This record gives sequence, structure tokens and C-alpha cells, in this order.
Amino acid sequence: MANETHVILKDGRAAVIRPAVPDDASSITDYVDRIGAEKRFVLRERATWTLDQERATLAAADGRQAVFLVAEISGHLSGMIHIARGQWTKDAHLAELGMSCLPDCRRVGLGTALLSRGIEWARTVGVTKLTLEVFLSNEGAIALYRRAGFIEEARLKGQYVIDGQPVDSLLMAQWL
Ligand SMILES: CC(C)(COP(=O)(O)OP(=O)(O)OC[C@H]1O[C@@H](n2cnc3c(N)ncnc32)[C@H](O)[C@@H]1OP(=O)(O)O)[C@@H](O)C(=O)NCCC(=O)NCCS
Repeated sequence: MANETHVILKDGRAAVIRPAVPDDASSITDYVDRIGAEKRFVLRERATWTLDQERATLAAADGRQAVFLVAEISGHLSGMIHIARGQWTKDAHLAELGMSCLPDCRRVGLGTALLSRGIEWARTVGVTKLTLEVFLSNEGAIALYRRAGFIEEARLKGQYVIDGQPVDSLLMAQWL
């Protein structure tokens, strides 16, 4: 897998997608806090690690058990995808992804580019089933995943609570 992928987005901006490195720890932490503050799209509400912990996690990544890709636009972290595979014989073929882009970088193809590089990684390391969980209320993400070949495997009723309201979630999967 090439280290950097260069993408021209639909609005003409240039993005670089590359594996996260320890020096990204601070920008990743700020980014995760920003996405979490939106409250509607991802389960995590804020970063729960210290910078040293994040640096150490990124330094320990070997690129086979998991991949953490960041997208930069004009040098700013603008999107990310994390995919982790199972660690046992029974689930080594399986990997689960989580991803996001900053609000001003949505709907211009960045998510598609991140996902396609993530899928490429999964294929390269021998993952054959890629899974994810998404709030049923997250129509944009579901549309992206369907377009990328994911299908609905299960619906979990009232699995989460957003703004005091129960929200179902979808388990989606794609065989590679
Ligand atoms: C979900 C997310 C990653 C999509 O990334 P993105 O860069 O906006 O996606 P793309 O621009 O590549 O969109 C690809 C296609 O997905 C669909 N799509 C994406 N966002 C959509 C939206 N808000 N409404 C409807 N369809 C949408 C469209 O088919 C789109 O193609 P089009 O723009 O040509 O119509 C982004 O919206 C995001 O970060 N959301 C907040 C965090 C989040 O929800 N993460 C996923 C948690 S499971």
C-alpha cells in the first residue's frame, strides 16, 4: 500500500491520505473532540486519552492488526478512518471500521476516498468481511456505505439515546 494518496476533491481542494503517525497525536485529539461535540453521528463524545498515550498507540501500530488513516487538506487534519481486525483465529478475517470528516469537508468525496483506501488496506491484509455500526438517524453515512457496497445485516432497536430519544442502529457489512 502506497504511503500517501493524493486526491482532488469535488470542490477542487487537494487532500492527502496517509497513515497516522505519533506527531499527529495532538491534532487527532482535537479532531476527535470536534466530531464528538456534534453529538449526532458517532458514539464517542470526546477524546479519553492523554497525548502521550495517543503517541504511544500510534507508535505501536504495525499496520497489520489495524490501520489508522488521516486525511489532510492544506496541512489540516480533515478526516480519518480507523479499521481494526479481530485478533483471534475465529475473527481474524473480520474488521470493523469507524470514520468521519470535518463538517466543511463533507460531500466533496473525502469520505469515499478514505473508505476506498481503508478497503484496500483490508484486502491487502486478508480481511474478508468488513463491518460497521451506524445510527439509523445518520442518513448521510448510510448512503455513503451503501454506495460503497455495504449491506444491512441487522437492526438493533433503541440501541442508543440521542437528545433523549431512542435511536436504532444498523450493523452493516461488506464481503471483500
Ligand atoms: C459520513 C461521512 C464520513 C461521509 O463523508 P463525505 O466525505 O461527506 O462523503 P462523500 O462526499 O464521499 O459522499 C459520497 C456519497 O455518500 C452519500 N452521502 C454522503 N453524505 C450524505 C448526506 N449527508 N446525505 C445524503 N447522502 C450523502 C452521497 O451518495 C454521496 O455522493 P454525492 O455527494 O455524489 O451524492 C461524513 O458525512 C461525516 O463525517 N459525518 C459525520 C461523522 C459520521 O457520521 N461518521 C460515520 C459514523 S458511522
